[in-house]
Amino acid sequence: MGPLVVANWKMNGSEQLLQAVVQEVGELAETTSATVVLALPAPYLALARGFDNTQLEWAGQNVHWLKSGAYTGEVSAEMLSEMGVGWCLVGHSERRQYCSETDELVLAKTNTCLELGIRPIVCVGENLRERQAGKALEVVSRQLLTVLNGVPTALAPLIVVAYEPVWAIGTGEEASPETAQEVHEAVKRAARSKIDGLELRVLYGGSVNADNAKALMRMPDVDGVLVGGASLQAHGFRRLCEQVAGSV
Ligand code: 13P
Repeated sequence: MGPLVVANWKMNGSEQLLQAVVQEVGELAETTSATVVLALPAPYLALARGFDNTQLEWAGQNVHWLKSGAYTGEVSAEMLSEMGVGWCLVGHSERRQYCSETDELVLAKTNTCLELGIRPIVCVGENLRERQAGKALEVVSRQLLTVLNGVPTALAPLIVVAYEPVWAIGTGEEASPETAQEVHEAVKRAARSKIDGLELRVLYGGSVNADNAKALMRMPDVDGVLVGGASLQAHGFRRLCEQVAGSV
Protein backbone atom coordinates (compact mmCIF):
# COMPACT_ATOMS: atom_id res chain seq x y z
CA MET A 1 0.00 0.00 0.00
CA GLY A 2 1.39 3.41 -0.98
CA PRO A 3 1.66 6.41 1.32
CA LEU A 4 -1.35 8.56 2.14
CA VAL A 5 -1.28 12.36 1.99
CA VAL A 6 -4.29 14.11 3.50
CA ALA A 7 -4.66 17.87 3.09
CA ASN A 8 -6.74 19.55 5.80
CA TRP A 9 -7.73 22.99 4.63
CA LYS A 10 -9.52 23.75 7.91
CA MET A 11 -11.62 26.93 7.41
CA ASN A 12 -9.46 28.17 4.55
CA GLY A 13 -9.40 28.08 0.77
CA SER A 14 -11.51 29.13 -2.17
CA GLU A 15 -12.94 27.68 -5.34
CA GLN A 16 -9.90 29.06 -7.13
CA LEU A 17 -7.52 27.20 -4.81
CA LEU A 18 -9.48 24.01 -5.34
CA GLN A 19 -9.05 24.30 -9.09
CA ALA A 20 -5.34 25.05 -8.74
CA VAL A 21 -4.73 22.09 -6.42
CA VAL A 22 -6.67 19.69 -8.64
CA GLN A 23 -4.61 20.86 -11.61
CA GLU A 24 -1.25 20.59 -9.80
CA VAL A 25 -1.79 17.40 -7.84
CA GLY A 26 -4.53 15.56 -9.72
CA GLU A 27 -2.31 13.93 -12.27
CA LEU A 28 0.46 13.26 -9.73
CA ALA A 29 -1.95 11.02 -7.85
CA GLU A 30 -2.39 9.05 -11.08
CA THR A 31 1.30 8.47 -11.64
CA THR A 32 2.56 7.64 -8.14
CA SER A 33 1.65 5.07 -5.53
CA ALA A 34 0.54 7.83 -3.16
CA THR A 35 -3.12 8.40 -2.40
CA VAL A 36 -3.93 12.10 -2.06
CA VAL A 37 -7.04 13.06 -0.12
CA LEU A 38 -8.38 16.60 0.23
CA ALA A 39 -10.31 17.33 3.44
CA LEU A 40 -12.28 20.40 2.41
CA PRO A 41 -14.84 22.70 3.98
CA ALA A 42 -18.27 21.21 3.20
CA PRO A 43 -19.28 23.63 0.40
CA TYR A 44 -16.19 22.73 -1.63
CA LEU A 45 -16.93 19.03 -1.28
CA ALA A 46 -20.06 19.61 -3.33
CA LEU A 47 -17.90 21.17 -6.06
CA ALA A 48 -15.42 18.32 -5.92
CA ARG A 49 -17.96 16.06 -7.57
CA GLY A 50 -17.37 18.02 -10.75
CA PHE A 51 -13.73 16.84 -10.87
CA ASP A 52 -14.54 13.33 -11.93
CA ASN A 53 -11.46 12.81 -14.08
CA THR A 54 -8.99 12.87 -11.19
CA GLN A 55 -7.53 10.25 -8.86
CA LEU A 56 -7.82 12.67 -5.95
CA GLU A 57 -10.04 11.51 -3.12
CA TRP A 58 -12.20 13.63 -0.81
CA ALA A 59 -12.73 13.91 2.91
CA GLY A 60 -15.08 15.75 5.21
CA GLN A 61 -13.50 17.65 8.11
CA ASN A 62 -16.30 16.74 10.47
CA VAL A 63 -19.60 14.87 10.52
CA HIS A 64 -22.60 14.65 12.85
CA TRP A 65 -23.06 11.38 14.68
CA LEU A 66 -26.78 11.15 13.91
CA LYS A 67 -28.33 10.31 10.57
CA SER A 68 -30.54 13.40 10.19
CA GLY A 69 -32.65 15.78 12.21
CA ALA A 70 -33.01 19.27 13.65
CA TYR A 71 -29.30 20.03 14.03
CA THR A 72 -28.81 23.40 12.38
CA GLY A 73 -25.42 23.82 10.77
CA GLU A 74 -24.45 20.16 10.82
CA VAL A 75 -23.59 17.77 7.99
CA SER A 76 -24.55 14.09 7.98
CA ALA A 77 -22.51 11.10 6.86
CA GLU A 78 -25.16 10.30 4.30
CA MET A 79 -24.76 13.75 2.73
CA LEU A 80 -21.00 13.25 2.53
CA SER A 81 -21.51 9.87 0.97
CA GLU A 82 -23.96 11.29 -1.58
CA MET A 83 -21.25 13.79 -2.62
CA GLY A 84 -18.83 10.95 -3.31
CA VAL A 85 -16.79 11.62 -0.18
CA GLY A 86 -14.93 8.49 0.93
CA TRP A 87 -13.12 9.77 4.01
CA CYS A 88 -13.76 11.98 7.03
CA LEU A 89 -11.55 13.51 9.72
CA VAL A 90 -12.89 12.66 13.16
CA GLY A 91 -11.81 14.17 16.46
CA HIS A 92 -9.35 16.72 15.13
CA SER A 93 -7.75 18.48 18.12
CA GLU A 94 -9.30 21.79 17.05
CA ARG A 95 -12.75 20.21 17.36
CA ARG A 96 -11.83 18.57 20.66
CA GLN A 97 -10.57 21.94 21.92
CA TYR A 98 -13.04 24.47 20.47
CA CYS A 99 -16.16 22.33 20.09
CA SER A 100 -15.70 20.25 23.25
CA GLU A 101 -15.61 16.92 21.42
CA THR A 102 -15.01 14.09 23.86
CA ASP A 103 -13.49 10.66 23.24
CA GLU A 104 -17.02 9.21 23.39
CA LEU A 105 -18.30 11.64 20.76
CA VAL A 106 -15.33 10.79 18.56
CA LEU A 107 -16.29 7.13 18.88
CA ALA A 108 -19.92 7.88 17.94
CA LYS A 109 -18.81 9.80 14.85
CA THR A 110 -16.39 7.04 13.90
CA ASN A 111 -19.19 4.49 14.04
CA THR A 112 -21.48 6.71 11.97
CA CYS A 113 -18.80 6.95 9.28
CA LEU A 114 -18.14 3.22 9.32
CA GLU A 115 -21.84 2.43 8.93
CA LEU A 116 -21.93 4.49 5.75
CA GLY A 117 -18.67 3.10 4.39
CA ILE A 118 -16.81 6.39 4.94
CA ARG A 119 -13.27 5.80 6.14
CA PRO A 120 -12.68 7.70 9.39
CA ILE A 121 -9.34 9.40 9.94
CA VAL A 122 -9.29 9.43 13.72
CA CYS A 123 -7.07 12.19 15.08
CA VAL A 124 -5.23 11.70 18.36
CA GLY A 125 -2.46 13.63 20.08
CA GLU A 126 -1.30 15.12 23.33
CA ASN A 127 -0.96 18.80 24.19
CA LEU A 128 2.23 20.44 25.40
CA ARG A 129 1.38 20.12 29.08
CA GLU A 130 0.70 16.41 28.66
CA ARG A 131 3.94 15.87 26.76
CA GLN A 132 5.95 17.76 29.34
CA ALA A 133 4.37 15.65 32.05
CA GLY A 134 5.51 12.50 30.24
CA LYS A 135 1.92 11.53 29.46
CA ALA A 136 1.94 11.56 25.65
CA LEU A 137 1.59 7.82 25.17
CA GLU A 138 -1.02 7.55 27.89
CA VAL A 139 -3.20 10.27 26.32
CA VAL A 140 -2.88 8.90 22.80
CA SER A 141 -3.64 5.39 23.93
CA ARG A 142 -6.76 6.54 25.87
CA GLN A 143 -8.04 8.38 22.77
CA LEU A 144 -7.32 5.40 20.54
CA LEU A 145 -8.70 2.69 22.80
CA THR A 146 -11.99 4.50 23.39
CA VAL A 147 -12.52 4.18 19.64
CA LEU A 148 -11.22 0.63 19.22
CA ASN A 149 -13.27 -0.61 22.19
CA GLY A 150 -16.46 0.63 20.60
CA VAL A 151 -16.26 -0.13 16.88
CA PRO A 152 -17.33 -3.40 15.22
CA THR A 153 -14.17 -5.49 15.00
CA ALA A 154 -14.82 -6.34 11.36
CA LEU A 155 -14.86 -2.65 10.38
CA ALA A 156 -11.81 -1.56 12.40
CA PRO A 157 -9.39 -2.04 9.47
CA LEU A 158 -11.15 0.84 7.67
CA ILE A 159 -9.90 3.27 10.32
CA VAL A 160 -6.82 5.39 9.72
CA VAL A 161 -5.23 7.09 12.73
CA ALA A 162 -3.60 10.51 12.51
CA TYR A 163 -1.12 11.34 15.27
CA GLU A 164 -1.16 15.10 15.62
CA PRO A 165 0.61 16.42 18.70
CA VAL A 166 -1.26 19.63 19.54
CA TRP A 167 1.99 21.49 20.26
CA ALA A 168 3.13 20.87 16.67
CA ILE A 169 -0.03 22.08 14.91
CA GLY A 170 0.40 25.41 13.16
CA THR A 171 3.52 26.19 15.17
CA GLY A 172 6.22 25.40 12.62
CA GLU A 173 7.66 23.04 15.23
CA GLU A 174 7.10 19.53 13.95
CA ALA A 175 7.72 16.45 16.06
CA SER A 176 11.09 14.90 15.28
CA PRO A 177 10.89 11.78 13.11
CA GLU A 178 11.98 9.75 16.15
CA THR A 179 9.24 11.20 18.35
CA ALA A 180 6.63 10.48 15.68
CA GLN A 181 7.99 6.96 15.23
CA GLU A 182 7.81 6.25 18.97
CA VAL A 183 4.12 7.22 19.13
CA HIS A 184 3.17 5.54 15.84
CA GLU A 185 4.79 2.32 16.95
CA ALA A 186 2.90 2.47 20.25
CA VAL A 187 -0.39 3.15 18.43
CA LYS A 188 0.11 0.15 16.16
CA ARG A 189 1.10 -2.08 19.04
CA ALA A 190 -1.96 -1.04 21.09
CA ALA A 191 -4.24 -1.63 18.09
CA ARG A 192 -2.79 -5.09 17.46
CA SER A 193 -3.17 -6.12 21.06
CA LYS A 194 -6.75 -4.83 21.16
CA ILE A 195 -7.94 -6.44 17.93
CA ASP A 196 -6.06 -9.48 16.79
CA GLY A 197 -4.31 -8.94 13.47
CA LEU A 198 -5.37 -5.29 13.13
CA GLU A 199 -2.76 -3.37 11.14
CA LEU A 200 -3.74 0.29 11.34
CA ARG A 201 -2.25 2.92 9.07
CA VAL A 202 -0.94 5.88 11.05
CA LEU A 203 -0.37 9.36 9.61
CA TYR A 204 1.70 12.11 11.19
CA GLY A 205 0.35 15.68 11.30
CA GLY A 206 1.72 18.93 12.73
CA SER A 207 3.79 21.45 10.75
CA VAL A 208 4.51 19.02 7.90
CA ASN A 209 5.95 20.74 4.84
CA ALA A 210 7.84 19.90 1.65
CA ASP A 211 11.16 20.16 3.51
CA ASN A 212 10.48 17.85 6.45
CA ALA A 213 8.08 15.33 4.89
CA LYS A 214 10.73 13.00 3.55
CA ALA A 215 12.53 12.52 6.87
CA LEU A 216 9.22 11.76 8.59
CA MET A 217 8.28 9.27 5.85
CA ARG A 218 11.56 7.40 6.33
CA MET A 219 10.33 6.19 9.70
CA PRO A 220 9.01 2.63 9.44
CA ASP A 221 5.67 3.33 11.13
CA VAL A 222 4.85 6.66 9.44
CA ASP A 223 2.42 5.68 6.69
CA GLY A 224 1.58 9.15 5.49
CA VAL A 225 0.97 12.74 6.54
CA LEU A 226 -1.90 15.03 7.47
CA VAL A 227 -1.09 18.51 6.27
CA GLY A 228 -2.65 21.83 7.28
CA GLY A 229 -1.00 25.11 6.29
CA ALA A 230 1.31 23.62 3.67
CA SER A 231 -1.67 22.29 1.69
CA LEU A 232 -2.98 25.79 0.98
CA GLN A 233 -0.56 26.62 -1.82
CA ALA A 234 -0.99 24.44 -4.89
CA HIS A 235 2.60 24.29 -6.10
CA GLY A 236 4.08 23.84 -2.61
CA PHE A 237 1.57 21.10 -1.88
CA ARG A 238 2.55 19.34 -5.08
CA ARG A 239 6.21 19.44 -3.97
CA LEU A 240 5.20 17.98 -0.62
CA CYS A 241 3.25 15.17 -2.31
CA GLU A 242 6.24 14.41 -4.52
CA GLN A 243 8.48 14.13 -1.46
CA VAL A 244 6.05 11.77 0.23
CA ALA A 245 5.55 9.67 -2.88
CA GLY A 246 9.32 9.40 -3.27
CA SER A 247 9.02 10.53 -6.86
CA VAL A 248 11.79 13.14 -6.49
P1 13P B 1 -0.39 22.36 10.23
O1 13P B 1 0.18 21.49 9.13
O2 13P B 1 -0.80 23.73 9.74
O3 13P B 1 0.50 22.39 11.43
O4 13P B 1 -1.76 21.68 10.69
C1 13P B 1 -1.76 20.34 11.01
C2 13P B 1 -3.16 19.88 11.15
O5 13P B 1 -3.84 20.20 12.11
C3 13P B 1 -3.71 19.04 10.08
O6 13P B 1 -4.90 18.46 10.45
